[in-house]
Amino acid sequence: MILTVVLLAACGSARPAPSRALVGPTGGQTTPSPGGQVRDFTLTAAPTTLTLGPGVTTQGWAFNGTVPGPELRVRQGDLLHVSFRNQLPQPSTIHWHGIAVPNGEDGVAGVTQDATPGGGTATYSFVVTTPGTYWYHPHQHSAEQVDKGLYGALIVDPATPTATAAVDKTLIVDEWAIGTNLAGPPPGDGADMTGYGIDTVNGHTAGAVAPLNLTAGDTARIRVVNAGFLTHNVHVHGTDVRILATDGHDVAGGAAINAPVPVAAGERVDLGFTVPSGSWSIDWHDGTSAARQITIPLTTAAAGGVSDASWNAEASPIGLSTYAGAPVPATGAAPAVTATLHLNEGPMGAMNGGGMPGMAMGGSQFTINGKVFPDTAPVQVHLGDTVELTFTNDGKLAHPMHLHGHAFRPVAVSGRAWQTTMLKDVVDVAPGATVTVQFVANNAGVWMIHCHELHHAAGGMDTLLQYVGAPRLANLSSDTTPE
Ligand code: C2O
Ligand code: CU
Repeated sequence: MILTVVLLAACGSARPAPSRALVGPTGGQTTPSPGGQVRDFTLTAAPTTLTLGPGVTTQGWAFNGTVPGPELRVRQGDLLHVSFRNQLPQPSTIHWHGIAVPNGEDGVAGVTQDATPGGGTATYSFVVTTPGTYWYHPHQHSAEQVDKGLYGALIVDPATPTATAAVDKTLIVDEWAIGTNLAGPPPGDGADMTGYGIDTVNGHTAGAVAPLNLTAGDTARIRVVNAGFLTHNVHVHGTDVRILATDGHDVAGGAAINAPVPVAAGERVDLGFTVPSGSWSIDWHDGTSAARQITIPLTTAAAGGVSDASWNAEASPIGLSTYAGAPVPATGAAPAVTATLHLNEGPMGAMNGGGMPGMAMGGSQFTINGKVFPDTAPVQVHLGDTVELTFTNDGKLAHPMHLHGHAFRPVAVSGRAWQTTMLKDVVDVAPGATVTVQFVANNAGVWMIHCHELHHAAGGMDTLLQYVGAPRLANLSSDTTPE
């Protein structure tokens, strides 16, 4: 009798057993490229009290206790071996944004793996083959998990060092739903962002933003990563800048400009400049009052006072599509696959029948060809196909569209050629605009295509790039959902 009671008590307190074995990352690669090394990292996701600036404290989630999480700095050819420990109160994953990993390492809950449960662990391993500026973040309930602070930079240095800048600094910008400094939705904004009153750079806001102490005449490279939802327009005062790379990939022959450069949600832009003498700042001309919280003083040996008198007075940001550099070569044979994705804001209210629970926030729908994920039609390709995707924005909000597992080349915007050769994994599609991109289908698997305004992704603006015959490694379920 006593034994029976004990057993019942034990059963009553146990979690329900999963009805099937969980699918984790596949541990795809096991040896570095020749000359590369094995690099071991541990990333632990856990709740953390964050102090973003004087008097600005919030309960967030962080990798290894800090926002951003640790910068993973590796060399081209290295094998990354990342132990992920999930100490969050919900399942999670890690996605390697911009890196063409094997499909099983992509960290997309419900597509390439089941999310790792709270208390669980997983191992990701992959070789980094392309130098540049990348980042990592969860791909399970992303709109919530990234928003709470789960992100960090992944920087891949070239195997053969080229000209290195004296200063090489990553700046990760983000917005936080603390306070209500914004009078109304900022321009180009997505879902209701009016609560996002705090901006941060590298996890710091007004009063805590670290100055860049530089030496006049030095060459500097800043790597801007946008981990937030809004476009941030970065402006280095006092000197011309060149765009050195977009989304990790070098840009050849970029012109010297002195204007804000837009960095949309999920995008990266590397800027190169010669450090001017005097005191200047890096400003963010974003059309929001919160942007002023993240002015970065640029202080050199000849420092006077910080001069930002020109704040918001200068020209509007450049357009990436009209930035001058090495031109886009003529395209060869007609693409084997063409697909047009019409982007729009759907009706508010009821989700359509196939929507996963929790996928819409506040009832907002964001559609691709009139459907919300997972009811959107996948783009079907074969290995080796040249693929042309056309994004047409029929709505009123900008949609920074992101492709996993590949880099694409933008070729046209609303009937005009994209001026400079750029390889990217996010392209911002303005309201009313049509943007065409091309890539070669060279990485078999099942990959996400989605808006990186993650509220929009949560509202359904996602689809899949599906290689015919490639297995889908995991499926959606009530606790496994990418956005
Ligand atoms: Cu930065 Cu699908 O993600
Ligand atoms: Cu969007």
